[in-house]
Amino acid sequence: MKAVSIGGGPAGLFFALLLKKDDPRHQVTVYERNRLDDTFGFGVVFSDATEAALEHADPQVIAAMGERCHRWDDIEIHYNGETLTSTGHGFSGLSRKTLLTILADRCRELGVDIRVGSDVADPESLRGADLILAADGANSAVRERYRDHFKPCIDLRPNRFVWLGTTKPFPAFTFYFKRDAHGLWRVHAYQYEPGMSTFIVEAREETWRAAGMEGAGEAETLAFCEHLFAAELEGHRLLSNRYVWRNFPTIRNGRWSHGTVVLVGDAAHTAHFSVGSGTKLAMEDAIALARALKEHGEVPVALRAYEAARRPAVESLQRAAQASLQWFEDTERYTSVPPIQFAFTLLTRSLRVTHENLRVRDPKFIARVDAWYAAEAARAAGACASPGTEPAAARVGTPPPPPPPMFTPFKLRDLRLENRVVVSPMCQYSAVDGMPNDWHLVHLGSRAIGGAGLVYAEMTDVSPEGRISPGCTCLHTPEHAAAWKRIVDFVHGRSRAKIAMQLGHAGRKGATRIQWEGDNEPLNDGSWPILAPSPLPYYEHSQVPQAMTRPDMESVTRDFVRAARHAVDAGFDLLEIHMAHGYLLASFISPLTNLRSDEYGGALANRMRFPLEVFDAVRAVWPAERPMSVRISAVDWHPGGQEAGDAVEVARMLKAHGCDVIDVSAGQTVPDQRPEYGRLFQTPFADRIRHEVGIATMAVGAISSYSDVNTILAAGRADLCLLARAHLWDPYWTRHAAFELGFRLPWPDPYSLLDNYKPRFA
Ligand SMILES: Cc1cc2nc3c(=O)[nH]c(=O)nc-3n(C[C@H](O)[C@H](O)[C@H](O)COP(=O)(O)OP(=O)(O)OC[C@H]3O[C@@H](n4cnc5c(N)ncnc54)[C@H](O)[C@@H]3O)c2cc1C
Ligand SMILES: Cc1cc2nc3c(=O)[nH]c(=O)nc-3n(C[C@H](O)[C@H](O)[C@H](O)COP(=O)(O)O)c2cc1C
Repeated sequence: MKAVSIGGGPAGLFFALLLKKDDPRHQVTVYERNRLDDTFGFGVVFSDATEAALEHADPQVIAAMGERCHRWDDIEIHYNGETLTSTGHGFSGLSRKTLLTILADRCRELGVDIRVGSDVADPESLRGADLILAADGANSAVRERYRDHFKPCIDLRPNRFVWLGTTKPFPAFTFYFKRDAHGLWRVHAYQYEPGMSTFIVEAREETWRAAGMEGAGEAETLAFCEHLFAAELEGHRLLSNRYVWRNFPTIRNGRWSHGTVVLVGDAAHTAHFSVGSGTKLAMEDAIALARALKEHGEVPVALRAYEAARRPAVESLQRAAQASLQWFEDTERYTSVPPIQFAFTLLTRSLRVTHENLRVRDPKFIARVDAWYAAEAARAAGACASPGTEPAAARVGTPPPPPPPMFTPFKLRDLRLENRVVVSPMCQYSAVDGMPNDWHLVHLGSRAIGGAGLVYAEMTDVSPEGRISPGCTCLHTPEHAAAWKRIVDFVHGRSRAKIAMQLGHAGRKGATRIQWEGDNEPLNDGSWPILAPSPLPYYEHSQVPQAMTRPDMESVTRDFVRAARHAVDAGFDLLEIHMAHGYLLASFISPLTNLRSDEYGGALANRMRFPLEVFDAVRAVWPAERPMSVRISAVDWHPGGQEAGDAVEVARMLKAHGCDVIDVSAGQTVPDQRPEYGRLFQTPFADRIRHEVGIATMAVGAISSYSDVNTILAAGRADLCLLARAHLWDPYWTRHAAFELGFRLPWPDPYSLLDNYKPRFA
């Protein structure tokens, strides 16, 4: 085969040597426009895991890299005058020039033809080759040449950064967060060879502009950064290598190959430098492509196999990189949190590294995080850890280790929760005439026994017309209140959990079938008229709701108040108003479903008017000592809909009206939503609201491991974690988590002999 690489970076060179090594008969040429030793940049970082993964591809290259790299285990975080160190991270740095020299030497040894100083102006000039590798980096001209086919998407991120070097030998991977008159500056620094380190400076656009860096050349940039970081550099100089301030481009492509042309490395995809993986991805691409060519004789088939093999891993890493870069874009949000929590949130920013991973890497650091979190929680809850919840490891005379974050108490008004795991509200569609029955008793009762601190009853409707389906529960008569009281009394009498009621009105999503007979599908028989802010049906074939008049609003408000009074009688500990998922109050908030031209439509303040009227009326009858929550859809996942910034304003208004905690969900407003699902996909909204509004939040959505729960809590992304499907699967989810974490959660008396029983699951 005749293969050419346009670009002699890590992707092009590594692929060239792997192909040639596989079969010396291949003719492989690398065209590189620059000299290999005048390449931009200083060092690159590899994790231990990456090196292990690369090793089998060419042990000789990896051995040479191993000899020349600088290794470290620690991450040091300098923030607010404190230095926090976390160990066990296993990374190495290597000079980019050294890496390229190692790769080029190996290429030459194997017989690859490297043509330096060769700028390929047009890939069409190489059409005679069987394979054309577009390894020409983030600004790939080859990708642009065939952009209609590759369909690139380049997301230019707002922060500014510059990639510098320094002679200061950093002993650890070092982060500095430093404020000056212009704003907050971040530094990512690491040593890549004895006495030489990479020093990346990053700031928000406004900070960078205020410092006069717009239009600054190399000399001004160096002078400014040396002055700003004089104390940190301790007399060492900063060095530049033809690198000016820029915005990071996150690059994605709809397709990675076009005929015999294939994208690899940065030309195909980028991952923010804060996850230090661009070179790793480029080299992994090279391995996968060489393997695909070996396995599939035909080039187009091999290129498809290469993309199928690489795309999922690349996209997964890009998701982690996205979370990480957003943390650096939003760092200002976290600058009022204590240093230990700041360090924890930084280390877990990509949502890949968890409380549990860190516990394995650095148990002392996690013990410190847990001790701090438990002390804060106990102080805020006005007590030390509740009796009977001491860790299993506790022995007379030895101080017990701090409880994991999920097993710390949480207090809202006079309500004290024993732990921070919550059973999310889940409709059971099993009621008759709105009446909860034995199913609801067993469903909620078993989950309360299962150890969660708080159990939510399902969305319960304030009137028969407000139901989603004929199987939904209601709370508009004393009989409903009595049926609910039976369940509340069971939870209070037989478990340590508290129980919350979620009140709602289905609005335009009402009069539909029970979920397993057609979610959101209109009823064929026995339907009832439905209400909404505007006469917009959910589906085209759904019932058209009636646009609410002022008397309708007064009537619905009265229904909410009546239901809230019944919730008091039933003895619920917390009351939630459902303002999410496209139901009545949510449909007032979203601009997609509220097209009113009166004072209840238009600007967000107007769209919030009716939901706030309902909230105020309910708050007035709900006992002052008991807390209230509101569930919101932070975003609509739809153009023109609610965005995360709007959710911050919604939460701010709710807080001003006496809401204690925001239950942060998302979407379900319109059927053609485009949600971005994934692990913890809604947690970033809870995090943002918590920090920007200063109100407690609950995170929900694809949270399923205890490690994720502890990570969310310790990082301060939310105060409580709600799990829905995980609790359907395992009513004893919290007990399983306690067992795994070595934490003793007392059993109800009839099960007390389980305190001395060791379950075996394998
Ligand atoms: C600030 C910063 C920090 C980073 N830190 C790390 C890190 O710590 N760890 C890590 O793994 N990665 C890091 N990266 C990413 C890393 O540099 C890239 O992901 C990696 O170099 C991609 O390799 P590549 O071979 O695809 O592209 P490149 O390394 O960009 O190589 C492309 C080559 O193609 C050549 N070329 C372009 N056009 C032509 C043409 N028409 N004709 C001939 N030659 C051409 C260029 O001269 C260049 O040598 C960082 C990136 C940045 C911006
Ligand atoms: C069967 C079922 C019923 C649900 N009913 C409700 C409900 O009554 N009220 C509500 O706000 N959310 C409801 N939800 C959404 C969940 O509370 C939760 O937000 C969602 O399932 C995401 O969490 P998970 O990933 O842990 O399942 C329901 C979810 C399920 C699976």
